[in-house]
Amino acid sequence: MPKNISVIGAGYVGLITGAGLAEEGHNVVCVDIVKETVDTINSGRSHIYEKGLNRLLGKNMGKRLKATTDFKNAVQDSDISFICVGTPSGNDGSIDLKYIEDVSRNIGEILSKSEKKYHVVVIKSTVVPGTTEEFIIPLLESSGKKAGRDFGVVMNPEFLREGIAIEDFFNPDRIVIGSIDTKSGDLVEELYSRLECPVLRTDLKTAEMIKYASNSFLATKLSFINEIGNICKELDIDVDCIAKGIGMDHRISPHFLKAGPGFGGSCLPKDVRALIYRAREAGYNPELLNTVLDINREQPMRLLNIAREKIKGFDKKRVAVLGLAFKPDTDDMRDSPSIPIINELLKENAVVIAYDPKAEKNSRKIFDQGILYSDSAKDALKDADIAIIVTDWAEFSDLDFSGMKQKIVIDGRNIVKDREGIVYEGLY
Ligand code: UGA
Repeated sequence: MPKNISVIGAGYVGLITGAGLAEEGHNVVCVDIVKETVDTINSGRSHIYEKGLNRLLGKNMGKRLKATTDFKNAVQDSDISFICVGTPSGNDGSIDLKYIEDVSRNIGEILSKSEKKYHVVVIKSTVVPGTTEEFIIPLLESSGKKAGRDFGVVMNPEFLREGIAIEDFFNPDRIVIGSIDTKSGDLVEELYSRLECPVLRTDLKTAEMIKYASNSFLATKLSFINEIGNICKELDIDVDCIAKGIGMDHRISPHFLKAGPGFGGSCLPKDVRALIYRAREAGYNPELLNTVLDINREQPMRLLNIAREKIKGFDKKRVAVLGLAFKPDTDDMRDSPSIPIINELLKENAVVIAYDPKAEKNSRKIFDQGILYSDSAKDALKDADIAIIVTDWAEFSDLDFSGMKQKIVIDGRNIVKDREGIVYEGLY
């Protein structure tokens, strides 16, 4: 049966969740404080780049989906509210709960005045284990109603990968539902009843931990294969072949085993940092996770060191940086390995010419001056002394290096196919 849902926070997670639930037949209202965001969504378009999202919005907008800035009515008129606001990283690695705090307090107030039936609050934002019980529920209860008796609480982590988030939403490996009671867990499980995948029911803090353990495991897998790649480089062995060989063992699996200049994005680095912080708070020093981050910090520098050695110093050299986004098919540059690489190039007085099919706009927010941007890889490579490939955009497999001054190519992703006529060296 269709449910009435409010989704608080129409950012990446909120908008995809909202659009996905509307496609599943529910009535969804997405709430955001930024009016332009709301207007853009109401016009059937997305304010963020994600493959397939515009089509999904266009299809459902005005029928089962709308956006608003009116928080109060959206919550009041719905049966279930999803909290999807950001939990940014503080300098010490802890997560900043200021948006969660505001939203939880406001929902609590609205619920306290509502005579309506059992409302369920679902936390989709990534919060460290214990946050829902120790921080969110007290805020929701601050106006007098009791969690588990007057309203339900569910922790339902997201496992969406940027770039293929829509596909992930409709074809999940699993759905994790941590709930304060059976009733609220059942209501949320029903929302996803048309999706075919296992559902794991847990308590609140287990669901929170599953999210962190998943991302920490993925990060560990990457630092592992990057370390193996670094060893292979010294021994002149192709790590991609090693990944293939070990991935054939079903216990290891071939996925998420591509070596590269390190993992970035808004989740993996932030979540590992946050879990380390939470573990230390609890009195445990997670050495493996610390090392995962150490290796990851070094990877972009390894790529740069190879380039520096090949070109004999960057001073006044034209360096084409190919790829700015943290991975292909996204415009997101958060924690991208391209950032420390460009910072170092600038420090060493290189002339940086950057190209990315999607991320230039976001890059300009970080590097507004000091670097040049090209509209194509071909333009970026023109007269360049050296090219450094940072992101594995498909188009970089087939580049034409003929316009370069010195045809030195440093490949962070083992992506360049035709290596004839160039001085080629890979990160691994
Ligand atoms: C990640 C997780 O994969 C999702 O399951 C999770 O839901 C999401 O975080 C989140 O917490 O919201 P995402 O940040 O979109 O998703 O990016 P990934 O596809 O996981 O890639 C992360 C980084 O690892 C990228 O920098 C990518 O280039 C790198 N990577 C990935 C590799 O270097 N090799 C690989 O084999 C895979």
